[in-house]
Amino acid sequence: MRAIWRVRQTWASVWYRAWERSEHRRTARCAESARNLHICSALVYRENGAHTDVLRLERLALAPLDKHCVRLKILAAPVNPADINMLEGTYPVRPPFPAVGGNEGVGEVMEVGSDVTSLSPGDWAIPVGAGFGTWRTEAVCDANDIIKVPKDISLLGAATIGVNPCTAYRMLHDFQPLRPGDTVIQNGANSAVGQAVIQIAAALGVKTICVIRDRPNQQEVMEELLSMGADYVVTEETLKGSEMDKIFQEVPRPKLGLNCVGGPYSGYLLSQLDHEGTLVTYGGMSKKPLPVPAKVLIFKNITLRGFWMTMWKRDHRKDPAKLQAMVASLCDLLQSGRLSLPRCVQVPFGDYAHALDMTECAHQQKHVLLM
Ligand SMILES: NC(=O)c1ccc[n+]([C@@H]2O[C@H](COP(=O)([O-])OP(=O)(O)OC[C@H]3O[C@@H](n4cnc5c(N)ncnc54)[C@H](OP(=O)(O)O)[C@@H]3O)[C@@H](O)[C@H]2O)c1
Repeated sequence: MRAIWRVRQTWASVWYRAWERSEHRRTARCAESARNLHICSALVYRENGAHTDVLRLERLALAPLDKHCVRLKILAAPVNPADINMLEGTYPVRPPFPAVGGNEGVGEVMEVGSDVTSLSPGDWAIPVGAGFGTWRTEAVCDANDIIKVPKDISLLGAATIGVNPCTAYRMLHDFQPLRPGDTVIQNGANSAVGQAVIQIAAALGVKTICVIRDRPNQQEVMEELLSMGADYVVTEETLKGSEMDKIFQEVPRPKLGLNCVGGPYSGYLLSQLDHEGTLVTYGGMSKKPLPVPAKVLIFKNITLRGFWMTMWKRDHRKDPAKLQAMVASLCDLLQSGRLSLPRCVQVPFGDYAHALDMTECAHQQKHVLLM
């Protein structure tokens, strides 16, 4: 009996000491979390609507830093058309309320949890997926939600590389096998995506025919796009006329068309494609449908596709190597000067309303919030 009692006592004291140690660790962890509680400023919305009605600058407490998490100080974050759609509730990604606006940006890693090996304090990182909420001064996130970028690219380059250049890169790589000398045609060519298409295509040796809207400063925009590496810059009206035939005496008809705009002129763009060509629609800036002439389907067997970067990133979540390779390749182009920044206006974080207003009404410059 006495022997059994002693064994029980020993087990009880072992169990008690283990419990005491785990309680001590838990209390220490809580005290540490309380000490490390960080507050950030963030542009928060609690319902969908116009940014002037729903977006407010608020103070938010950051979540405690779990072992697989990272604390990120956001340095810069652009305002993209899709961010406005997300606020309005017309974008297919709807973060739960209260939500923080902004999908793209770059931050500096301030602190990493004990299990994080992919990032270290001081690194720069960009969000992997949509809905990150980059319009804030700090964030705590899972280390897998961000990807490291080199620090020797410019701040604005890092802040704007994750969406538009990636979209351009994927559209040029994933839809038609393009070889040097092949041709791509695109509308919305002066958009940030369009400018990235011009430069990435030029680096691949692929020719670009770039379509812009009629405008007072047409010559200036044409010259700018040509200086980026565009081979031809034409207006929408040109798509209707015989001037296109002259172009196709010099270069082959495009195998790939990229449609940012929709509306009647995108039907003319579609008609310029080569047999078995592909038109990829990635934007609908005119808010009008894409007309599809029956003859291009019947006689040219054209393929109509769509592309959404968010879906691509979701589909490749378990294969980060492909995302890392794309970002590394784009950073190389930035470093070597073959990919330039979109026209950026730097806006202090507090002037966010101006940046959003300007993004809604003028599309010639990318407004980037500096935190
Ligand atoms: N599918 C994807 O994964 C993906 C990824 C990134 C972007 N996008 C989309 O791509 C588009 C461009 O994005 P961004 O950030 O590159 O935009 P951005 O730099 O702000 O440029 C906007 C472009 O749209 C044109 N535009 C604006 N309103 C127009 C209208 N009513 N009719 C015809 N053209 C019009 C502008 O031409 P003007 O200079 O003549 O005004 C400009 O070329 C947006 O629709 C965005 O949502 C899609």
